[in-house]
Amino acid sequence: MSSSLNRRLLPNLLPSSHVPPFPRRPNLSLRRSVASLPSSSRQRAFFTRATAAPTRTSRKMTFIRTFTAGSSRAASPQDEEGSKRANARKAAEIARDFRTDTITVPTDEMCAIMSRASRGDDVYGEDQATSDFEEKVARLAGKEAAMFAVSGTMTNQLAIRAHLTQPPHSIVLDSRAHIHQHEGGAAALLSQATSRTIKPENGHHITLDEVLDIIVEGDDIHTAPTKIVCLENTLSGMVFPQDEIVKISEAMHDHGILMHLDGARLWEVVAASGSSLEELCRPFDSVSLCMSKGLGAPVGSVLVGSKEIIQKAKWFRKAFGGGIRQSGGLAAGANYALDNHLSLLPRTHALAKQLANGLADLGVRLLLPVETNMLWIDPSPLGFTLDELALKARSLGLNMGASRFIVHHQITEDAVQDLLRAVKELKEEHKGRETCSSSAVVDERQNRAFAEGRWEGNVPHMSTRTTAYAARK
Ligand SMILES: Cc1ncc(COP(=O)(O)O)c(C=O)c1O
Repeated sequence: MSSSLNRRLLPNLLPSSHVPPFPRRPNLSLRRSVASLPSSSRQRAFFTRATAAPTRTSRKMTFIRTFTAGSSRAASPQDEEGSKRANARKAAEIARDFRTDTITVPTDEMCAIMSRASRGDDVYGEDQATSDFEEKVARLAGKEAAMFAVSGTMTNQLAIRAHLTQPPHSIVLDSRAHIHQHEGGAAALLSQATSRTIKPENGHHITLDEVLDIIVEGDDIHTAPTKIVCLENTLSGMVFPQDEIVKISEAMHDHGILMHLDGARLWEVVAASGSSLEELCRPFDSVSLCMSKGLGAPVGSVLVGSKEIIQKAKWFRKAFGGGIRQSGGLAAGANYALDNHLSLLPRTHALAKQLANGLADLGVRLLLPVETNMLWIDPSPLGFTLDELALKARSLGLNMGASRFIVHHQITEDAVQDLLRAVKELKEEHKGRETCSSSAVVDERQNRAFAEGRWEGNVPHMSTRTTAYAARK
């Protein structure tokens, strides 16, 4: 088909999913002219011709085309204006969506850079953008090598798989760790590892004493010796004190136990503490760094470690089907996010604290200290539930999950103010109906400290129901 013919025909063809079924009584001459075509092209030909003569059927078709134009055309990459409008609408939605930081949208500038990236095959190790990006992250983290992969779950699990050899073996984690709670049981599934978990006494982070109490050593055949301690930083938005990490790492290395860090949000620690990535990664044998959370890349996570461990991880990445062929665009997006969005994180932390202080002023209980971009709240002392808050928020064009709120780099100040307005209005509506149970009484001192990102004594344990990944739409 010549290209001019193509141009003339294509605008008339809807994707097959939008082709309506034949009408029950089609015009006869039309039926003859399309009878020899295969059914899908027949339907399309029918559809194309039907708009030429204003028969009853064609009027019906025109109606269907008009009706479907809004949805199908706006989403079509060929329709530049439609795509721009749809993407602007999505960006405006995301600016008011507190569910998580993985939902940020790539910006036009990021997409432009992605489209110009190298197009080599990374499974063959031939993509320049990916290799350059891996080298850059390895250098920043002070490690020998790095591997780009599609997700944080994949880099965590490939690290565990690459570190472990012959079962029986165990890994040690915080009981709230993502690796333990939210990765589909993959450590058992893929690495045959038993998980030994710690519920930290202080409610904030696990300590060396707690780790020493739980690791398994020796050759008792009843046991599964501990081979890795996996930490998470940040965990629920809280920053793991680096001096405790160093102590755990030194002790574990003395015991021949490896250290892995789920650093999905380690960039938040860089922004909050001012420490370098290299310093934060130094105590670990491997670190997983997500590019698609706070930094806002559309996809990607990087595992850093020794050349040997990265080589092994690449082997397993291939075996698990995780190799990406022309990965340059994705790596370029992640690289753009690193270069341009890391500097936006302090603003998100300030906005999170502003939101936390506003909520504390109104009497909402903060469940954990707000040390970075994450808040955990309980509005029940004001007499209403999270579900009622979600409904009110919806009426103001805001979206929220369960008790977790994340202030990502595309959240606007208006969204924060409107969320506070939602709470204020509900508080007014529920005046006199506040809960009087002792569990609903807010500890003002603690609430204020949490709003400012401080904690003293112990942080109360949240129920695991609160920490469930409840995506509300
Ligand atoms: C702490 C932590 N680690 C790992 C992951 C896994 O990342 P991904 O969703 O890219 O698999 C997440 C995801 O939210 C996370 O919060």
